[in-house]
Amino acid sequence: MSTAKLSLNGQEYEFPVIEGSEHEVAIDFTKLRAQTGAISYDPGYGNTGSCKSAITFIDGEKGILRYRGYPIEQLAEHSNFVEVCYLTIYGKLPSAAELAAFQKSLTYHTLIHEDMKKFFEGFPPTAHPMAIMSAMTVSLSAYYPDLLDPEVVDLNIARLLAKAKTLAAFAYKKSIGQPYIYPRNDLNYTEDFLHMMFAVPAEPYKVSPVIARALDLLLILHADHEQNCSTSTVRMVGSSQANLFASIASGISALWGPLHGGANQEVINMLEMIHRDGGDYKKYMDMAKDKESGFRLMGFGHRVYKNFDPRARILKKAADDVLDELGVNDPLLGIAKNLEEIALADSYFVERKLYPNVDFYSGIIYRALGIPTDMFTVMFVLGRMPGWIAQWKEMREDPATRINRPRQVYSGATERDYTPVTSR
Ligand code: CMC
Repeated sequence: MSTAKLSLNGQEYEFPVIEGSEHEVAIDFTKLRAQTGAISYDPGYGNTGSCKSAITFIDGEKGILRYRGYPIEQLAEHSNFVEVCYLTIYGKLPSAAELAAFQKSLTYHTLIHEDMKKFFEGFPPTAHPMAIMSAMTVSLSAYYPDLLDPEVVDLNIARLLAKAKTLAAFAYKKSIGQPYIYPRNDLNYTEDFLHMMFAVPAEPYKVSPVIARALDLLLILHADHEQNCSTSTVRMVGSSQANLFASIASGISALWGPLHGGANQEVINMLEMIHRDGGDYKKYMDMAKDKESGFRLMGFGHRVYKNFDPRARILKKAADDVLDELGVNDPLLGIAKNLEEIALADSYFVERKLYPNVDFYSGIIYRALGIPTDMFTVMFVLGRMPGWIAQWKEMREDPATRINRPRQVYSGATERDYTPVTSR
């Protein structure tokens, strides 16, 4: 095993170097403080490996994304969301019998406790569905025991995956004041979600296969993305041995922010703004480049991808296909494509390696499928659910897991004496 040398205050220290299965190199600083008295400083954790993980591999320079070793392009073309859930959580492609049993389990746990409907009623109609989603997910822990018995863990995993779509659809129905539509056991995962979203009691609802397949693709592409902000949050909270539902509810809150999963909603707001402004791209490009403006080109840039985001590539093509198949003519798609072309030729974006990310085209597809803008980030929640669960499970099963507790470099006042308010 090779080592890395660090020299501090004239003294030399050695640290082990570890290598991942894709030859990623890391210096093991587990004993850094114990040996040197110093800590590492890495705001935003851009250089910090917080765990070893066998779930997702990303090579940001080459635009590679694989779940459990399988390229995202192959899964997008040949798999389906439920199979991808099994793959990410249990680490292998299921046999036909395993898939059938898993599918059945996800079908039979879709109902939520009737009492939970009262929680929905308590929210104002203007509540953002992400607020409801996070609150309802943590509330599930009030109904289901948190036992470390593997069978109960698996049961809770199935419950969470199955109920998440019911919660999401109920959150939408609440926001538009329509009655909740109960799940149907004869439909598959994506079809059932669409049914709960769009059916009304007065008339039968037929799920469009084009819409169901497009939604399935979107969910597959969001299934996991290694140690991003929300996943790290799930692991952080879970490291205190908080239960599955509580850990994942915290991930939902982390995802909500506009720099993370909230970006898909912001992309559409931005494209609509440009559209209303008569397609004045230059104005928005200039604003994005001006640090004082506080404006960023939403759906552009990524901490890890510095060449292209493979998910955005798949979605750009899917946007064309889906809008074509559905006969939707959305001017925002044209604006997005023009914006991408201009940005990719602009030295500001080229130098900083800023490319469209997964959120740039996903919103346009969601719109074509009839999903309202407020629900976009909730769709991201449904897609990312298996990834969060897989990471939580891996963390709980890893003997190396310790409660996550970073250090800090204190920069506040040094010791001073308290003075009574009368003498200040
Ligand atoms: N528009 C304009 N400038 C940008 C953008 C953007 N979208 N993204 C980054 N930059 C600039 C940034 O100002 C900085 O410039 P400089 O070096 O001159 O200070 C440089 O590029 C590096 O940016 P950073 O903020 O240090 O990069 P980061 O890795 O901390 O942030 C990011 C990554 C995704 C938060 C950021 O690119 C961003 O805010 N993008 C817009 C929001 C967005 O689309 N988020 C979705 C991410 S993908 C889905 C997900 O994982 O949730």
